[in-house]
Amino acid sequence: MILVTGGAGFIGSNFVIDWLASNDEPVINLDKLTYAGNPDNFSSLDGDPRHHFVKGDICDRELLNQLMAQHKPRAIVHFAAESHVDRSIHGPGDFIKTNVDGTFSLLEAARAHCAGLSDTERAAFRFLHVSTDEVFGTLNPGDPPFSETTPYAPNSPYSASKAASDHLVRAWHHTYGMAVLTSNCSNNYGPLQFPEKLVPLIIANALAGKPLPIYGDGQQVRDWLYVGDHCSAIRRILTDGQPGETYNIGGWNEKANIDVVHTLCDLLDELSPAKQSYREQITYVKDRPGHDRRYAIDARKTERELGWRPTETFETGMRKTVQWYLANQEWVRKVQSGDYLKWIDRNYSQRARGAA
Ligand code: NAD
Ligand code: TYD
Repeated sequence: MILVTGGAGFIGSNFVIDWLASNDEPVINLDKLTYAGNPDNFSSLDGDPRHHFVKGDICDRELLNQLMAQHKPRAIVHFAAESHVDRSIHGPGDFIKTNVDGTFSLLEAARAHCAGLSDTERAAFRFLHVSTDEVFGTLNPGDPPFSETTPYAPNSPYSASKAASDHLVRAWHHTYGMAVLTSNCSNNYGPLQFPEKLVPLIIANALAGKPLPIYGDGQQVRDWLYVGDHCSAIRRILTDGQPGETYNIGGWNEKANIDVVHTLCDLLDELSPAKQSYREQITYVKDRPGHDRRYAIDARKTERELGWRPTETFETGMRKTVQWYLANQEWVRKVQSGDYLKWIDRNYSQRARGAA
């Protein structure tokens, strides 16, 4: 079986669902259920004996040792993290705790687990660390996209904590010979994403008749990847990746934020028309401090060496996403709890309207 951390979050839950749809190998799903973790995300697996959910913290070494001894996973796929840049600006402490200390603790538990394996089992064991393109910092308009050899230059507490965890993972390979794999992926979107991130926030606010907040001038560029394509890339890396290597994952979809929001508004105008276009709700607000201007990813190594390419285009992926949120309004309503409302107030109340 495999151990997945963070499998109640956005990408982790999509991964667990896709994994069990494509093969029968059981999954232990370890998740602390922070504000971002939601057991409703895998309610479609209720009663499935291949899915074992454990509520717990990756910083808890005793729990990790116990899970390793009991289940003897042949691989760990590590998603668990604090993942939202704006929250890392308001409170970086949790990011250091989970992303750095937590990854350290997981690596140590994996190292102890590997020491007890036979040579054959140890050779087959894999630790796949799921990371982000944000560790590479920011690009100017004409710069080539990030490759696997681009030097790290993280700019936010989130990306710095992810960069630190990537370095730990690398060191555990070089020093202890652990068979690690690291993937660096661009911005994901799709079903089950918590509505603090751009795409689901815009859909939720649009349907609620609220302002659609655009930070700064809206010309910041991200590469966008449909979450199902990220999951298929991770499965491929787990099967065929070379231990010690890093792999970039991207959608070949560089878009300015304002264009992403226009696309969402146009899809909503078509699929759930209101009295006026949703574009009328767009509101420019104060920028994020230290906002990275552009991310772009060169995923040719992953294509060349592992034969992976995304299957969704930006248009097909965004359409599926809007359709999912329209069909799952109850899921959105449930996650918009008291804590969510406090966060929205904290993040947006100081961003005056019209401030570019
Ligand atoms: P998310 O915030 O939706 O989910 C994170 C999950 O981790 C939650 O279920 C949360 O409860 C759990 N978690 C947090 N702290 C924990 C702890 N101490 N112990 C156990 N579980 C804990 O995040 P996501 O968007 O699904 O991202 C998953 C991973 O992918 C992260 O490592 C992130 O850095 C990386 N990533 C995300 C994106 C993106 O666009 N969302 C892009 C590239 C890489
Ligand atoms: P986000 O979804 O938070 O992902 P990340 O910061 O990891 O790229 O934001 C994506 C882009 O959208 C980023 O450039 C910030 C911008 N953004 C807004 O303009 N308004 C918002 O309300 C949010 C949440 C993000």
